[in-house]
Amino acid sequence: MLERPRRNRATETIRSMVRETRLDLSNLIFPLFVVDGKKIKQSIGSLPGIYRFSEDEVLKEVEHCMKLGLRSFVLFPAVENSLKDKVASYGHDPKNFYLRIISKIKNEFPDTCLISDVAMDPYSSDGHDGLVENGRILNDETLDILGRLAVAQAEAGIDSVGPSDMMDGRVQFIREELDDAEFENVGIMSYTAKYASAYYGPFREALDSAPKHGDKKTYQMDPANKWEAVREAELDAAEGADFLMVKPALLYLDIIHLLKDKFELPIAAYNVSGEYAMLKAAAEKGWLDYEKAMPEMLLSIRRAGATSILTYAAKEYAQLLKEGKLA
Ligand code: PBG
Repeated sequence: MLERPRRNRATETIRSMVRETRLDLSNLIFPLFVVDGKKIKQSIGSLPGIYRFSEDEVLKEVEHCMKLGLRSFVLFPAVENSLKDKVASYGHDPKNFYLRIISKIKNEFPDTCLISDVAMDPYSSDGHDGLVENGRILNDETLDILGRLAVAQAEAGIDSVGPSDMMDGRVQFIREELDDAEFENVGIMSYTAKYASAYYGPFREALDSAPKHGDKKTYQMDPANKWEAVREAELDAAEGADFLMVKPALLYLDIIHLLKDKFELPIAAYNVSGEYAMLKAAAEKGWLDYEKAMPEMLLSIRRAGATSILTYAAKEYAQLLKEGKLA
């Protein structure tokens, strides 16, 4: 036998020498759910290990993560139902606690990279990412609202805004609004290929943001489509996006790979709530070894071509690294 591939697998030293993909903490983005109030750290049933934090508690959490070596965070607000309305006005209200928390984190920890969520659903009484009229989601009318959300977040000190709404033309619209307000250095991490997925369930529980009627299929993408992701990516790149995101990640590794091949922009992948939850559930039953299955999951997303990964497992990964439990 001339070829014996096992020779390059013989020891950890040689395996490490020939290893093609590495995952670094700087590739990971940790999602944080925030609420108004004080001394609140609420667990979320379907997301074990993930909490809704009030301002004081989220500052402690960020400090803890920074000590572990994590510096990038994506923030989502859990808003009381009484503050929600048809036009998501609380989203750009000067009293909005989410904007206040962004400013606080940025002031205390200037080395963080903070990414926002630009969509109406956390603030919408309809639970949709766009403006609803007679059961239809209006596109162009939604853009104005998204622009206002993005500028308010930029004023609060966000590094990058994250439009997760999937309206047409929103990247360019937001880019122009940010530039007009002299926030030309605030980036856009666009949710480029966001699929109408069943795997967002635990996230919607965390924010109580499920659509009140209908589904999101007229704006989020059909899971069957691949070339549509390229079309969305071409538009986002032309409209000024700084990152192209694929979401979910694990079930759409082919899309990550495709966009990585075709575009020069960094690819972000969102390892969504349902992907995290299914691993956690299997581990709780003793069917999977979480400490091995989780790093393998993240590595697969990186190997497919993601530059950065938004994942609920980021902190656990950092902890495992610190404990010397990763290869
Ligand atoms: C909504 C938004 C969703 C997620 C991020 N932003 C849910 C949705 O589109 O209904 C899902 C993230 C996750 O499941 O972890 N704008």
